Amino acid sequence: LKRYRIRPASRLVGRVVVPGDKSIGHRAVLLSALADGRSRITGLSGGLDNAATLRAMTAMGVRSHEEGNALVVDGVGLHGLHMPAASLDCGNSGTTMRLLAGILSSQRFGSRLIGDASLTSRPMRRIVAPLRARGAHIAGVSGKKEGEVYPPLSIAPLLPEERLLGLEYEMPVASAQLKSCLLLSGLYAKGVTALSEPVLSRDHTERMLVALGVPLQTMGPMVVFDPADFSGHLPGFEWHVPGDFSSAAFLIAAALVVPESRITIEDVGTNPTRSGLLSALAPMGASVHVTPRGVAAGDEPTGVITAHAGALRPGRAAAEVLVRMIDEVPAFCVIAARAEGVSEVRDAEELRVKESDRIATMASVLAEFGVRCEELPDGMRITGRAGPLCAANVASRGDHRIAMAATLLALCADGESVVDDVECVETSFPGFASLLRSLGAAIDQESAP
Ligand code: S3P
Repeated sequence: LKRYRIRPASRLVGRVVVPGDKSIGHRAVLLSALADGRSRITGLSGGLDNAATLRAMTAMGVRSHEEGNALVVDGVGLHGLHMPAASLDCGNSGTTMRLLAGILSSQRFGSRLIGDASLTSRPMRRIVAPLRARGAHIAGVSGKKEGEVYPPLSIAPLLPEERLLGLEYEMPVASAQLKSCLLLSGLYAKGVTALSEPVLSRDHTERMLVALGVPLQTMGPMVVFDPADFSGHLPGFEWHVPGDFSSAAFLIAAALVVPESRITIEDVGTNPTRSGLLSALAPMGASVHVTPRGVAAGDEPTGVITAHAGALRPGRAAAEVLVRMIDEVPAFCVIAARAEGVSEVRDAEELRVKESDRIATMASVLAEFGVRCEELPDGMRITGRAGPLCAANVASRGDHRIAMAATLLALCADGESVVDDVECVETSFPGFASLLRSLGAAIDQESAP
């Protein structure tokens, strides 16, 4: 086990790039594997979650190799995957499991999806129920919540005369993993896939499929795919994966909470379905500026983000904005902890089924750093203060975003803090500690006894 030993920081200054977007990376790997011909992907994060997706595709006969800083993938076509010899291990990655389940439900071979302890406790009924409704033979196991379905997921082959059916579905949650699972299975179905979400979740899958010529129609939180207009082929592509906004969010937070800091992050994905944090920060008086820079990975807007420290007002993250910042709530909590007054996170029940129960873990981490925090069923109320926090010794509970949020709280503490169990940071943000060091933070990584 590894841990960070962190001393309070006085000033973080510099220009950095963050690893490639995890969400976009998963999709680029999956779509390149299913394309006809060769694709080149640059900017992949090197994180463990994307690696799990690539490993699964490799286990089904997809060849790839590195060429300089690019991953070159030789796609096998939508119908070219082979039966894997063993269970596919999705590690810690919910996106890997849920998106793969959509693809594998459409195959004429069987498969089994497994994951680590955290992933094995995450709800899968949301994908299993609609996949079954369209004719897939997929099952999970029962677990702690009655009626819920958990990994491992077992998928039996479609029979020779079977094909997945069209699906008209009102999704019970705004979830890009569920939406993408159903869209990818829809590529193989014989009828129309028509989905609607309560609120539009991140739309990377839609943007990428459209960029590859797949006829999707989108209108707000609705998306329709009609296979009658689809050639059945995805072309190979050359895409650059921009920096991960969710990783950039921790640097934005660092710049806002460590006095006199100023951090510039280059080449960050700024897709509006991901950048809700900026909307939540604006009324707090936070100094964050985005300069648009172009388009990456098909149709993903990118920009340069600069953030600097200053007085903060309390804020609120809820409703539609919350969905657009679902992974940034831990970073928001750090910022709220430093804003004099009461900030609120609401409508965030989904956080209870992320890599950890992020409402409970974040509330207890805040409390350990001496920040008053009231846990609510769908969020929390945080009483922030501008003075130093209390140094603490906390554990990440295996959740990468909790580990990074705790590290930032430690930078604002009145003495040395320790964050235990930090190897999970590698799932999304390899090099997190060294990048903060390059900006002036004093963080040592050590092996825990
Ligand atoms: C993701 C979707 C979100 C997000 C996750 C990545 C994706 O999950 O929290 O980190 O890549 O589609 P949900 O779909 O469960 O909201």
